[in-house]
Amino acid sequence: MAAKLNASVSLLAMGLALASGSALAYQQGDMIVRAGAALVEPQEDSDELTVNGTKLTTAVGGAVAPAEAGVDSNTQLGLTFVYMVSDNIGLEVLAATPFSHNITANLGAVGTVDAAEVKHLPPTVSVQYFPMGAGSELQPYVGVGLNYTTFFDEEVDDELDAVTTSLGLGDARSLEVDDSFGLALQLGCDYAINENLVVNAAVWMIDIDTTATFKYAGGNKIEGDVDIDPMAYMVGLGYKF
Ligand code: NI
Repeated sequence: MAAKLNASVSLLAMGLALASGSALAYQQGDMIVRAGAALVEPQEDSDELTVNGTKLTTAVGGAVAPAEAGVDSNTQLGLTFVYMVSDNIGLEVLAATPFSHNITANLGAVGTVDAAEVKHLPPTVSVQYFPMGAGSELQPYVGVGLNYTTFFDEEVDDELDAVTTSLGLGDARSLEVDDSFGLALQLGCDYAINENLVVNAAVWMIDIDTTATFKYAGGNKIEGDVDIDPMAYMVGLGYKF
């Protein structure tokens, strides 16, 4: 009886050791690939637009001022790749399919008009700290990193062109949105379903400051500094190699 009990206790202890063992933990050399839905939600704050360097209010009076830019949210496929450089420190790269945002201009008495559409990619490299160590199925982490955001496929909307035509500027020939380098802060959590599969949720605060320039015939331009500073959220599944 005693021998059987001892054997049972030993088995139980072995089972617990396996369940809480390093199989579930992140270790130096591990690679985790995660995929999921990534939402970018701009918290934009724009300075007053300028016309050829002069503030809009001064340049064209109060009818279309004060002007503020609005940027809507967009969801795309997000991918994160993590390499564990030690048991607690990971290096993460965030990638995604291109985000597409509509930009609106709030033009005082004229109201809000569709101004443009722009696409962007926000690759971000972060250093992450996983405090839980060996044995934890739950792996929360904090990260700090550098974001590079590149804008492309900028298109001016006809609604904005109608307003600028009424101001004597005509149709915009092009829109340029400057690329941005900025800090990214991150919180996230992985939960191990089994030895290889994890469920992941993560949130980023990204500093994206840019300048949008609408160019018109004769060298005329309307310019605005926009701090997009989005929150980004991702939920998905990961695989640990
Ligand atoms: Ni900013």
